[in-house]
Formats: sequence, structure tokens, C-alpha cells
Amino acid sequence: MEQKPRPVHCLVFPYTMQGHINPMHQFSKSLVSKGIKVTLVTTQFLFKSFQQLSGSMPVETISDGFEGGYASAESLEAYFSKFKKVGSETLTKLIEKLNATGFPVDCIIYDAVMIWVLDVAKIFGLVTAIFFTQSCAVDNIYYHVKKGVINVPIENQVSLPGLSVLEPLDMPSFVHNPGLYPGLLDIMVNQFSDIEKVDWVLCNTFYKLEEEVIEWMSKQLRLRAIGPTIPRKYLHNEKTPEDDIDDGLQMFKPNIDACMNWLNEQQEHSAIYVSFGSLAELDARQMQELAFGIKQSGKHFLWVVRASEEYKLPRGFVEETSAKGLVVQWCSQMEVLAHKAIGCFVTHCGWNSTLEALCLGVPMVAIPICTDQGTNAKFIADVWRMGVKVDVDKNGVFKGEMVGHCIREVMDGKKRKEIKTTSKRWMEMAREAVKEGGSSDISINEFVASLTQHSK
Ligand code: UDX
Repeated sequence: MEQKPRPVHCLVFPYTMQGHINPMHQFSKSLVSKGIKVTLVTTQFLFKSFQQLSGSMPVETISDGFEGGYASAESLEAYFSKFKKVGSETLTKLIEKLNATGFPVDCIIYDAVMIWVLDVAKIFGLVTAIFFTQSCAVDNIYYHVKKGVINVPIENQVSLPGLSVLEPLDMPSFVHNPGLYPGLLDIMVNQFSDIEKVDWVLCNTFYKLEEEVIEWMSKQLRLRAIGPTIPRKYLHNEKTPEDDIDDGLQMFKPNIDACMNWLNEQQEHSAIYVSFGSLAELDARQMQELAFGIKQSGKHFLWVVRASEEYKLPRGFVEETSAKGLVVQWCSQMEVLAHKAIGCFVTHCGWNSTLEALCLGVPMVAIPICTDQGTNAKFIADVWRMGVKVDVDKNGVFKGEMVGHCIREVMDGKKRKEIKTTSKRWMEMAREAVKEGGSSDISINEFVASLTQHSK
């Protein structure tokens, strides 16, 4: 009897941040649904801190060299440098261990910020796929910094292939204000080191969203758009077995019941959802301004304030606004955005949050704080016209009054109709891209087919 071929085995290795884990975890689910065996790789520290594990995929750990993750490192540079050394050694051991089992590793898909993984993969002759978790526009900007076309700090507007003219504040913060988080620009720019040696370049975006820049980047780097990496249950009202089992790998515990109970009491499209993702830290003054703006909007609100940020809330705010709002430390963001009560998302414009709102057709008020968010905000407001942008200066400072004004503009103002219509259009295009036969689905199928071919 002919033996059934063993499935292709991919390691998927996201960087140790929620905003990087989510898209690569979701992408892994689509690979599993197409017959690939996926093992997720993370650090020992992060593994211990996950609130919920991925039910459908095995998770293996390596070491970053730190007992307490990056928070225990002296600096980000120190973290990355040790992670490279210890991570390379422990990843090598992990692959040796897996190769000794019945499931040798065929391919590794790794986060673009950890370029050292390529050297380890080459030792074992693995197929390599680098995964960019940010938009193609942002990748294009860092690529041009790498090429020396953009000088940092940027002080004048620039025109790059595939993109409209960008002002300095439309660029990632590390490009216009590199002093704020030293070391991070190098990490982002180094994503392109040795990229010609990588077999596949994958990006969490979709063709119609960033058509021109994707065209250009695919000519330079063979980049493939495979996104948006959103669970199918939200896109097609159809659960995969993987969706049934888990939305795991959460670094924070979501307060699902409180959120759902509260949302169920609100009228359709009447409430705003406010969240600044897993990382952004507002200073006390920004938090005051945000609280003021939310209150001044007059809208009912669900606001995620992470436990580490709670002390910055204005004194008495939660009690004073309890008839109108709910403040939680973490929620299931997709569940919230998908709820009919939500009429607008006040967001820091992390790339995942942006894509999630886009896929669910939720209009946005953009308040970018740092990293790629300024560029995402520019596109949300001026290119995709899915929301409005609050003026934020180069240090991330904004006015509460403008927050309130922008919320009312999206919820009740003259632009409301146009924003709702365009948001709905983008939602449909995003869903088309990942549907069977859609542009991203075709790219994923080509990737999977090449892996299957390679492992024969
Ligand atoms: C960071 C960067 O800011 C972002 O721009 C980059 O592209 C990826 O890394 P983060 O700031 O956390 O990520 O923002 P975002 O990209 O939006 O990711 C946050 C994720 O956490 C989203 O997938 C969101 O759904 C999830 N989330 C957020 C929750 O599940 N619950 C919450 O309460 C808040």
C-alpha cells in the first residue's frame, strides 16, 4: 500500500509582542487549514505568561537569555543582542530535537525583526519565509532608509515609489524622531539585511489596500501580500476547527463577560470603543486629554486601559462616568469591534487594530502615538478615508478637545455618511482578498504548494 506523505512541517516564530504574535498566529491557522503542520515558537518567558495557549497548535520554546523577558534587559539593544546569541543557540537545539522526531522541520516563517533566524535556518537547509507584521507602505519607508534614500531624522516631505507625498509626521516615528526610542530604527531598517537570501517575503496586507506600493515592493523583494490575518469566523461567518478551539496566545486576560454584558445594553452603533493596543504608553497629561475628549464627546464608551496604565487615569474618572462608560484592562478586541453597538474605534492605529477595524467596517478616530502608527493614521484618514485623524505633535501630544470633536464628527457629523460607506467598501475588499480565490488566498496557496513540492 502506498504510504501517505507526511505533512509539511513549518515553524512559525513571531517576535515577543502581542502585536506580532496575533498576525503570525492567525496566519498559522490558515496554513493548518491548508494541511500544513505548524509548530509555534516563542520564548520561555512569554510561554509562561500566556493567559491562554493555542489549542490547535503545538508551542515550543527557546530562550532569549533573560529570566524576565525584555523588561529585564538593560536596554532594547542589549535585549536584541543577547536574544540573537542565545536565541540562535537554543533555536538550533530545538530544530535538532524536532528533526529527531517523526516530524522534521521543512520551513521556518520568522518575524522580520529577528533577521538572525535566517542563519540558523540555512544550517538546516530549511525553506525560509520572512514575515512583515506592518503595512507595506511602512516597510517601503524603512527600505528607503536602508537604501540611503531617506536621511534620518527626516525634516522635509518625501515622495517614494508607490506612495503619495508624505510629510515628516506621516512617517514612522523612528524616522522623524529617532531619539525617542534609540535603537529601534536600526532594528526596523535591518529587516532588509540579506533579504535577497530569503525564499519568501510575506506581508500582512492585501493587494487592493496598498496596490501601488505592493506592486513596487514585489518587484524589489518578491513581496507577497497574504493578509489581513483575521480569524475566518469574523470574515465569513464561518468557523474553522482552529477558530473553534482557540483565540489563544494572549499576554493579557480579556474581561469578556463584562464587555459583552455592557455592549448588549447599548443601542446599535451608539457606543465608541477606545484602545491603544498592547504597548503604547501615554503620559499622565495625554491620558487626561484622552479622558477629557471621551467625556466631552458625550458618547457611551468602552475603554481599554491596561493594568500598567491605570494609575494615570484622572482621579474619580471611572466612578464619575460609570453611567456612560466601562473601563476594562483588556478585552477580546475582535468580539468588541464586531458588536453592533460599536459605532467608532478611537485607536492608536497599530497595524493589527487598523486591519481589524477595516475588516469589520468600523470607522476610526486615529490618534497615533509612535512607531508605524503615524503612517497608518495618515492612510486611514487621507487615503482610505475610513476615519479622521486627531492632530498629534512629534512627541505624541494631542488635545482632548480635538478628540471629542473628531468622535462627534465620525459618529454624527457631515463626514459620517461618506466614512461609513468607504469603511463598508474596504470591509468587502478585505473579505474578498482572503476568500477562496482572492488575491491573498492565491498567494498563500502558492506558498503552500511550493512547500509541498520542496518536501517531496
Ligand atoms: C505594535 C505596534 O504598535 C503596531 O503598530 C505594530 O504594527 C505591531 O506591534 P500594538 O501597539 O499592540 O502593536 O497594536 P496593534 O498592532 O493594534 O496590536 C494589538 C493587538 O492586541 C490587536 O490584535 C488587538 O486585537 C489586540 N487587543 C488589543 C486585544 O485583543 N484586546 C485589547 O483589549 C486590546
